[in-house]
Amino acid sequence: MDQVTFRSDTVLSDVHLLLPNARHLMTRLNAVGQPVFISRFKILRDSEEGDAGDGVSVVDAGEKTGRVTGGGEDKERGKREECRSGDSIFLDEDGDLDVERRPRGPASRGRDAICPIVLTQGGGAATDSEEEEDEPREEEELSRDVITIEHTMATPLEDVGKQVWRGAVLLADFILSQPILFQGATVLELGAGTGITSIVAATLAKRVYCTDVGQDLLNMCQRNVTLNRHLLDPAGDQVRVRELDWLGDTLSTETETEFSWAEEEVADLHDNATLLLAADVCYDDELTNALFRTIYRLASHFRNPSTIYLSIEKRLNFTLRHMDVSCEAYDHFRRCLDDLQDIADGKTSFTVEKVVPQFPQFFYYERIEQLELFKVTASPL
Ligand SMILES: C[S@@+](CC[C@H](N)C(=O)[O-])C[C@H]1O[C@@H](n2cnc3c(N)ncnc32)[C@H](O)[C@@H]1O
Repeated sequence: MDQVTFRSDTVLSDVHLLLPNARHLMTRLNAVGQPVFISRFKILRDSEEGDAGDGVSVVDAGEKTGRVTGGGEDKERGKREECRSGDSIFLDEDGDLDVERRPRGPASRGRDAICPIVLTQGGGAATDSEEEEDEPREEEELSRDVITIEHTMATPLEDVGKQVWRGAVLLADFILSQPILFQGATVLELGAGTGITSIVAATLAKRVYCTDVGQDLLNMCQRNVTLNRHLLDPAGDQVRVRELDWLGDTLSTETETEFSWAEEEVADLHDNATLLLAADVCYDDELTNALFRTIYRLASHFRNPSTIYLSIEKRLNFTLRHMDVSCEAYDHFRRCLDDLQDIADGKTSFTVEKVVPQFPQFFYYERIEQLELFKVTASPL
């Protein structure tokens, strides 16, 4: 696979962008013929990176779109500006800008590191149908601090769930910084993609319903859960990969497939779920509307008050329409949050806050200022 052809709507996550340009990275082809890669994400514990305290603060985002700022955010920005202004600018002999490559070693920069999070890649060739039990498991892979994730690289938009996005890692950081909140909880993740956030949540939670849509993606997600079973309670099946399509019937028990819901799972979710997660799921306005309808439907039927954590990356683009940089998907997301908060159905009230991302980084990735986390609290009236 020397030549990779990118389609015009092909996107590549920054998480995978900085991989070394080596050969033989692909581990196999999936059932639909896409190259599958393996990346290992190391969890940095206290000894490696210092203050893994509770460090989470929240600012009220109850006001309308775009008016919320957080002290922590400003501090972060300040740090980055300082870093930028300290950089030297070099020109080559033709006067072109000579851009220094980002350092690859994580050790030099600590938590603000701008470097790849992937430790190793590749592995023996295997097919979707092969049993993982037959594959030799390396020591690193079995470490309690390493999460192994199969994913594809550049994908068309309809397959973005097969990559790991920065929002998933931000949410994973948040989970690991809030062990008490997640300990023993029943959690539902929407649009889980490769499943990395659910897997992290399952290291603490009692049960995680890890949901997305599409047989092929759900297969990949299930494989990732299996690959990381050594991180989870050996007795239990904490992570259940299930189909939940925001555009369809919320929790269908109609069909009997590997990823369909059993009646008792729906009841368990209804009776016990208190935490909902969604990472980087707002990039198309129609889907965002469907996601918010799903959140509303679910949260207003749960027996208990629930909290929904949504991460989003504000991807700024210059548009002729605005003659400026903007992110329409982000603006729409903020309007949906406002609308949720304005709901007055007499049954459930929703409040929205922005979480200042001051919590520790347990994974190496670039926590850019456009990466944001929101907390929505749903309370029965
Ligand atoms: C950008 S990916 C994010 C995946 C993962 N949360 C992450 O951050 O790495 C968006 C996810 O939303 C899912 N999604 C899109 N439309 C959906 C729908 N109608 N119902 C459920 N999930 C959907 C996609 O399949 C994909 O996994």
